[in-house]
Amino acid sequence: MAYKPTNGLGETLNGRQPAIEKESPSLLLNVEVELTEAERAATPNRIMETKISFKVNGQPHTITTDPARPLLDVLREDLHLTGTKYGCGEGQCRACTVLADGQSIASCTTSMSEIENQSIITIEGLAQGNELHPVQQAFLDEEAFQCGYCTVGMIMEAVDLLRADPHLAKTDVQARMQRHICRCGTYPKILKAIRRAAV
Ligand code: FES
Ligand code: FES
Repeated sequence: MAYKPTNGLGETLNGRQPAIEKESPSLLLNVEVELTEAERAATPNRIMETKISFKVNGQPHTITTDPARPLLDVLREDLHLTGTKYGCGEGQCRACTVLADGQSIASCTTSMSEIENQSIITIEGLAQGNELHPVQQAFLDEEAFQCGYCTVGMIMEAVDLLRADPHLAKTDVQARMQRHICRCGTYPKILKAIRRAAV
């Protein structure tokens, strides 16, 4: 494989070193990769798509897609379940939390191949008809949100937490919820809502 240094504007430098090298070695990552004929033949241009079956809120789905695609993309773009939010896309804010076989996961960093044959629950699947899930009701009762962007992720996390420890006897709730970012700082009310939902 041969590398062609560029000047950052897509122009190759014909063997000269990029002028930026002296100032910022890290910018040397800006190179074009020129594949040999054999490498080109061995590298398919198209992503290999795969059929993946899974359930969302009780409904079976089979989609053909890139298995590395994040679950969050499929939920929002293909299935139009936009209740689950995109925050950082890097597993840091947990705004995108859903349940996979009952356990909370960050859907932005979970690939489709990882959830094959699993049962996903999103915020849209929590209520039973007109009756909100007890955690949803507790968040409403405690007014545990301001802009609401983090709320869905917080609720899904709390559902998993209370499933595993309904009396909150064994869980450090504050430590668990700290991995979720609330830019509005509504943590005290969120913790109150979770305690209210505990039986
Ligand atoms: S959007 Fe998934 S963790 Fe931030
Ligand atoms: S309520 Fe605004 S980010 Fe949490």
